[in-house]
Amino acid sequence: MIAPNPLRIDVFTLVPHAYAWLTEQRPLATVLGRELELRLFNYRDTTPLRAGQVDDEPYGGGAGMVLRVDVVAAALDAAYGGAPPGHPVIALTPKGRPLTQRTVEELTAAPALTLLSARFEGFDERIVEHLATDALSVGPYVLSNGDLPAMIVLDAVARRLPGALADGSVELESFSAELGGGLEYPHYTRPAQFRGWEVPDVLLSGDHARIEAWRLGMVTHP
Ligand SMILES: C[S@@+](CC[C@H](N)C(=O)[O-])C[C@H]1O[C@@H](n2cnc3c(N)ncnc32)[C@H](O)[C@@H]1O
Repeated sequence: MIAPNPLRIDVFTLVPHAYAWLTEQRPLATVLGRELELRLFNYRDTTPLRAGQVDDEPYGGGAGMVLRVDVVAAALDAAYGGAPPGHPVIALTPKGRPLTQRTVEELTAAPALTLLSARFEGFDERIVEHLATDALSVGPYVLSNGDLPAMIVLDAVARRLPGALADGSVELESFSAELGGGLEYPHYTRPAQFRGWEVPDVLLSGDHARIEAWRLGMVTHP
């Protein structure tokens, strides 16, 4: 898949500093400033409310605070000059469509991406309905914030960009077309024997055709 160059990803968050660790690690560190441009926006920097307020109590009562629609709209307007960004704006929420490898590949082909993270009780629903164009979930469980999901998307997309990984690493891996969408075969390295646990003989044979056939036979389809 051909990715735009550079792919720009804008993340809207309350904790931009939390992304420092991720950006120092491969694959992000390798592609940042080249195939990937990352911008981090703090909702508090553009909130129209006093004292950096970004959330409010839920209408109808109940626990937790809700990320306000006017706060997210102000952040997007400041970043994109008041116009719709013209690329996917993705709310990270457990209610979104599941993030799969196929979705990752779709995202990698977009001209740019905007990721919206929430905390607390989540988004005012009007953010998801009117400001976002898509919603993604990283799994059927609830995390405390959308920043871990945003980092998952960033990592999964970054490793698909040219130059992120050694040649061949992304072609032959779990969920790839080359493996028929299946789960990758097992890997082994030295020592060949450890506590009586052996490496399959075929991998030590030097017979590349047999090794390839064995590997393809070990691909599983969940
Ligand atoms: C504590 S969660 C809110 C959960 C929400 N009240 C619910 O029951 O669905 C706070 C935020 O974390 C993020 N989040 C949590 N789990 C997620 C998941 N599985 N996928 C994507 N984002 C998630 C979302 O941004 C969410 O708004």
